[in-house]
Amino acid sequence: DRSVKIAPSILSADFANFGQEIQAIEAEGADWVHVDVMDGHFVPNLTFGPMAVKAFRPHVKTVMDVHLMIAPVDPYIEAYADAGADVLTAHIEAGPHIHRTLQAIRASGMKAGVALNPGTPAEAVAHLLDLTDLICVMTVNPGFGGQKFIDMTGKIIALRQMIGDRPVHIEIDGGVDPTTAPKVRAAGADVLVAGSAVFKGGSVDNTGVYGNNIRAI
Ligand code: DX5
Ligand code: ZN
Repeated sequence: DRSVKIAPSILSADFANFGQEIQAIEAEGADWVHVDVMDGHFVPNLTFGPMAVKAFRPHVKTVMDVHLMIAPVDPYIEAYADAGADVLTAHIEAGPHIHRTLQAIRASGMKAGVALNPGTPAEAVAHLLDLTDLICVMTVNPGFGGQKFIDMTGKIIALRQMIGDRPVHIEIDGGVDPTTAPKVRAAGADVLVAGSAVFKGGSVDNTGVYGNNIRAI
């Protein structure tokens, strides 16, 4: 079902070759490019900030999907708009004012996403459904690639029902591979983030390995 979109996470790419890595996954059929921003505070790991994201922008021909694992969020929204993010996702656990944050993301011209950690129930977004374009269901505790998938089937089904006819994506992030992908698709997810499952085998090597991995998901 190609209405499902595969969003490789460049967290598992070769950090010395982001431009080439982005071009390779898009050439091999990536629908979106997922960019994991970590601050060493909201999550116990650090990645890149708005200057790096801006440098990725000219390489991304599809959709640049920026996942903020940072707190606070609001002071940085303009910087990620300026960096060229198409979708900007903030965690509901990152602060007390997610409603304001989602409004600010849309006001800056981006699609607004809200991410839920595994311990956060579907009901937490009940009053945000008209303010959001994407709900990201974390199927790992955020911070690192390559972790074991945590089954959130019940949450995905509940969200799909709550969303109804609204044009809201359900994105799954963490431990997505050819075994877990069919389960989350069946539950109602339509954007699948995959880091280690796409990039396993190392950096760009012209063997089409990324393409094979993308198609397997
Ligand atoms: C985890 C990140 C994910 C990560 C997924 O905190 O948000 O996007 O890259 O990696 P895999 O697919 O290896 O679980
Ligand atoms: Zn992510």
